[in-house]
Amino acid sequence: AKAQAAAGSRFGFDEIEAGVDLEHHVAPGYDADILIRWGDKVFADSPDFDPMNQTAEAQARQFGYNNDYIGFVALEDSPDHGLLFVNHEYTNAELMFPGFAVVRDDKVELGDYTKELIEIEMAAHGGTILELRRNGDGKWEPALDGAMNRRITVSTEMQLSGPVAGHDRVKTNADPSGTKVFGTLNNCAGGVTPWGTYLMAEENFHGYFSGELPEGHAEAENYKRLGVPAGWYQWASFHDRFDVSKEPNEANRFGWIVEVDPRDPNSVPKKRTALGRFKHEGCETIVNGDGRVVSYSGDDERFDYVYKFISNTTFNPDDRAANMDILDDGTLYVARFNEDGSLDWMPLVHGEGPLTAENGFADQAAVLIEARRAGDALGATKMDRPEDVQPNASTGKVYVMLTNNTKREEANAANPRPKNAFGHIIEITETDGDFASTKSTWEILLKCGDPKIAEVGATFSPATSENGWFGMPDNAAVDADGRLWVSTDGNNEADTGRTDGLWAIDTEGEARGTSKLFFRVPVGAEMCGPLFTPDGETLFLAVQHPGDAGQATFEAPATRWPDFDDAMPVRPAVVMVTKQGGGRIG
Ligand code: FEO
Ligand code: CA
Ligand code: CA
Ligand code: CA
Repeated sequence: AKAQAAAGSRFGFDEIEAGVDLEHHVAPGYDADILIRWGDKVFADSPDFDPMNQTAEAQARQFGYNNDYIGFVALEDSPDHGLLFVNHEYTNAELMFPGFAVVRDDKVELGDYTKELIEIEMAAHGGTILELRRNGDGKWEPALDGAMNRRITVSTEMQLSGPVAGHDRVKTNADPSGTKVFGTLNNCAGGVTPWGTYLMAEENFHGYFSGELPEGHAEAENYKRLGVPAGWYQWASFHDRFDVSKEPNEANRFGWIVEVDPRDPNSVPKKRTALGRFKHEGCETIVNGDGRVVSYSGDDERFDYVYKFISNTTFNPDDRAANMDILDDGTLYVARFNEDGSLDWMPLVHGEGPLTAENGFADQAAVLIEARRAGDALGATKMDRPEDVQPNASTGKVYVMLTNNTKREEANAANPRPKNAFGHIIEITETDGDFASTKSTWEILLKCGDPKIAEVGATFSPATSENGWFGMPDNAAVDADGRLWVSTDGNNEADTGRTDGLWAIDTEGEARGTSKLFFRVPVGAEMCGPLFTPDGETLFLAVQHPGDAGQATFEAPATRWPDFDDAMPVRPAVVMVTKQGGGRIG
């Protein structure tokens, strides 16, 4: 049965039915077209995708794997010319490589890695910068001749910038300067700055390191707090820098926010150390009323923290070059959500409060490299896995996605459910719309999960239909009309009878807390990267790890989306949603 429009809702679309199948689904009256898929060309002279004969060299010139964050900037020369940024968070070897994975005792087992396979993985990580042109149908197409097109990979030269640059703790055998790093890892969400640069957040970087630190090494506590090394990947077998016994400081050079100037394809991306080192889900940036720049970031781990960075200098809308190092100079704050609904943003500044040499913080670099430990010392609130933190410029509110935490035993006001399987969303009100405020308030917008199951304790409004509820909020977007949209990660795995998708959520008036399903992904996938173009007429969505359900392998994925061709593997892809006949989405 179709849901009645909720009274006062700001969304007019007809919602789709929740469920699980091999395809994606979008609300009636909309088109959802594939923009670009893993292996597609990024340059006019990129090789064609040949899944049975993959090489690292080809992959480095093709669209990477597991698209996550999507950013967009409109270019000045034409309303039909834009620049797309896409993160490639991680790789699924079992789905990528032919003949590599077998199912034994209901478990997927990987074969033996060659150097080439590892280097394909490394080239499939990172990001893509891609010029787009809009055709007469109002749909965007990759402009493969675009002069700004670029692939960023684990081999791209980058610069450590800000307070940690050149510090002894980031020097390695290969880089005695402590400033020159190759590549970026596990770029989950990200952001676009007001001056049009692309921010790539480094999230689960610990998974790429193997080996054992030398006995009694000074980084032992630091690495333990971050789970380094986790050994998820075999890269250390062929690249010593991922072996902490051989290059013990390399892991201090990951876990940062990377800023890329997309206008110059030869620019050296900068790791902005002033924003702290942790498992950054994303980094959404806003210009405050006084011109200072504020960036929000969640640390996606159970019992970790929410942060914001406030710049010292102000954004200059008339001088792009003057903005390029704003993110090197400012103060990082960590959040304490008090039981009375107030919120303290506490500065991570060496020498203030407990952040002293006596407590093991030798200098400001130590505070930033070990931001988690600094947050521990300050008494920040341990959260249920902070994912995207999304400011809304039109309301002065900030939305925090807390995806889940089944290991929580003790509740607190901001994380009110023990064994929180479905997550929740917090709404921060920055005082008087001042995003640089250090004393704010907060309340819970939604506790997620199925409202029919009383013990779940979900709080969607009664106007929310059977299709409208969701669990595991992950990414969020605010559209051109200031409305909130949330995408999810894990509904299929949690066996909710529905896949992940994109839901539209009313936050104002009597419809507050009403959620409607707009788009859902094929089986096995997660929904990432929701991004509306500034004109509100295109929505870009990232379908990540499609087909990754059950004992999926290259030969037997759970779906062959989006090609549905037996000669093609399942492929992560970016989807472009437009309204039939044109107009704003939603
Ligand atoms: Fe990569 Fe926090 O999800
Ligand atoms: Ca993801
Ligand atoms: Ca995520
Ligand atoms: Ca997630």
